[in-house]
Amino acid sequence: MRIVLVGPPGAGKGTQAAFLAKNLSIPHISTGDLFRANISQQTELGKLAKSFMDKGELVPDEVTIAMAKDRMEQPDAASGFLLDGFPRNVSQAEALDEMLTSEGMKLDAVLDLEVPEDEVVKRIAGRRICRNDSSHVFHVSYKAPKDEGVCDVCGGELYQRDDDSEETVRKRLEVYHTQTEPIIDYYKAQGLVVTISALGKVEEVTVRAMEALKRKD
Ligand code: AP5
Ligand code: ZN
Repeated sequence: MRIVLVGPPGAGKGTQAAFLAKNLSIPHISTGDLFRANISQQTELGKLAKSFMDKGELVPDEVTIAMAKDRMEQPDAASGFLLDGFPRNVSQAEALDEMLTSEGMKLDAVLDLEVPEDEVVKRIAGRRICRNDSSHVFHVSYKAPKDEGVCDVCGGELYQRDDDSEETVRKRLEVYHTQTEPIIDYYKAQGLVVTISALGKVEEVTVRAMEALKRKD
């Protein structure tokens, strides 16, 4: 399956994507994680991305689309993928459509995670991620690591993302409403959108998501 995951910052996209990708045997492709890996490796792309991410703004389309395309062309993504954080505006969605059409492929579903803003703020405020791998995600109260400040998966140090400060989160939410939400209507016009509530336990949301995706299969 080829799936796009949409939802506000802190909705639980990364958390759900990890389980869904495993259940569906497809790679989880997160543009946020790809940028963070570039930042920790101090690449030119990482330096550029950080200057936008720290302000809560979108990284320019040209570099983002090239990076996403490159990742989708890897052999493990040949029979499907779960996109998390891409596309993030209508021009990225159009670029993805062009990319897929030129290969004779199409999306199967766009899974829209709905969460009220006060819950999103709580989820982001308590989030801690691993220095070794930003896909290792915890929460101080909802998903506390066994040892405080230490990643359960790899033993790495846990820290708070630079863009999780209150001011930057406010900006990211504004960018989500103005630039990302319009892609939901774009995909509704193609009959691809399934919306689920992302409230409740992580496992409950995964079950809801799998059931919604089955209806699109
Ligand atoms: P990105 O990394 O994509 O961030 P985001 O969309 O803001 O989403 P988050 O990672 O904040 O949240 P999430 O929904 O994955 O939630 P999570 O699972 O961690 O992008 C960051 C930046 O990169 C952007 O601002 C932009 O600058 C740039 N960028 C990325 N892609 C781009 C693109 N395509 N174009 C341009 N720029 C781009 O969960 C949050 C917390 O809640 C965790 O602590 C988790 O443990 C907890 N939690 C999860 N589920 C539950 C639950 N059910 N109950 C309780 N707690 C839960
Ligand atoms: Zn780790």
